[in-house]
Amino acid sequence: MGVPMEKDPREEIIQAWYMDDSNEDQRLPHHKEPKEFVSLDKLAELGVVSWRLDADNYETDEELKKIREARGYSYMDFCEVCPEKLPNYEEKIKNFFEEHLHTDEEIRYCVAGSGYFDVRDRNDAWIRIWVKKGAMIVLPAGIYHRFTLDSDNYIKAMRLFVGDPVWTPFNRPHDHLPARKEYVDSFLKEAGGNAIDASA
Ligand code: LAC
Ligand code: NI
Repeated sequence: MGVPMEKDPREEIIQAWYMDDSNEDQRLPHHKEPKEFVSLDKLAELGVVSWRLDADNYETDEELKKIREARGYSYMDFCEVCPEKLPNYEEKIKNFFEEHLHTDEEIRYCVAGSGYFDVRDRNDAWIRIWVKKGAMIVLPAGIYHRFTLDSDNYIKAMRLFVGDPVWTPFNRPHDHLPARKEYVDSFLKEAGGNAIDASA
């Protein structure tokens, strides 16, 4: 039979699953029982795109350079999430985990450590996306999401942006924002019957 299916190299550093609904420590994995994993293709259907990159050589990485050029990511800085490096650590940790959206993409490249980006699926269920060293992900403008460290308690992320960065979070609900409406139209509406009503 044909060519054996090769495993997607991203799967070693990006995993996604549906969350349980317990209120336990946000830094725990929160798997359902039994576990219910979500494929990278399914994430792509929600507009979440990802790459596996060489995090030890981001300064000279041609692949990163190409992505930045193709997508216009002119701005770049680093955000290290730990009490020593992040001013107002406790407050930021709390705010990152408030469900919110942005009017632009949220682009994060994990160059060290790990963390969880949680995104809503089309039925408003939480999908937890675990990113580890080498994972770069883009959350589309208008998607409801939140972030938490995992129990290893450390991430160093490259933040990218098109032009001057705007990090403003709009906590849910902010359904009237054009970025939200565009997100709903582009990603949540097409699968007939299953879509969330944008006017709700
Ligand atoms: C942010 C992430 C934490 O808005 O969602 O920076
Ligand atoms: Ni955000």
